[in-house]
Amino acid sequence: MQLPQAIERVLLDEAAIQRRVTELAAYIDAEYADAGQLVLVGVLKGAFIFMADLTRRLTVPHTVDFIALSSYNKSTTRSGEVRLIMDTRTALVQRHVVVVEDIVDSGHTLEYLIRNLAARQPASLRTCALLSKPDRREVDVAIDYLGFEIPDVWVVGYGLDYADRYRTLPYIAELKRAVYSS
Ligand code: IMP
Ligand code: MG
Repeated sequence: MQLPQAIERVLLDEAAIQRRVTELAAYIDAEYADAGQLVLVGVLKGAFIFMADLTRRLTVPHTVDFIALSSYNKSTTRSGEVRLIMDTRTALVQRHVVVVEDIVDSGHTLEYLIRNLAARQPASLRTCALLSKPDRREVDVAIDYLGFEIPDVWVVGYGLDYADRYRTLPYIAELKRAVYSS
């Protein structure tokens, strides 16, 4: 396989990702079988591909919605203060909400989301993230459905980007350190 020049190595190939997404969907299916009013809230842009695969594997009735966040001082890698730039269309009051994130790094984004969404008085609120970098955590956040733990490296592909590039790679790959540490 020909890898883009900026890629160090593939961490998770397409088959491994798909297997795990199927498992996560099965957990969610089982736990929300009788809940009703389930809405998945995907976090743009990073979670859009994960969200598309996850939602199509769920058999429990649900709707999808999206939220977009941005961090100050962040054009490429590390996150700063979080800012809401697009809200959900759905009112979340009395709904069972699962937030769908691409990756939890410091945890600040997810913490912000939990606080923001909990204030809308949903019937329940849980979190789902494809990836987590536990070594980078600055705030303790609960991830109820987690795909994979990965080391402290910058990853791209399957929706994740570096300066808006590499989102459509079908695998999750580690970027060469020289690309993001300069
Ligand atoms: P946190 O607030 O530090 O947990 O950062 C979370 C956000 O930073 C994620 O939603 C991603 O948008 C971005 N992020 C963190 N690590 C990576 C990475 O390795 N690749 C791509 N995006 C990342
Ligand atoms: Mg993100």
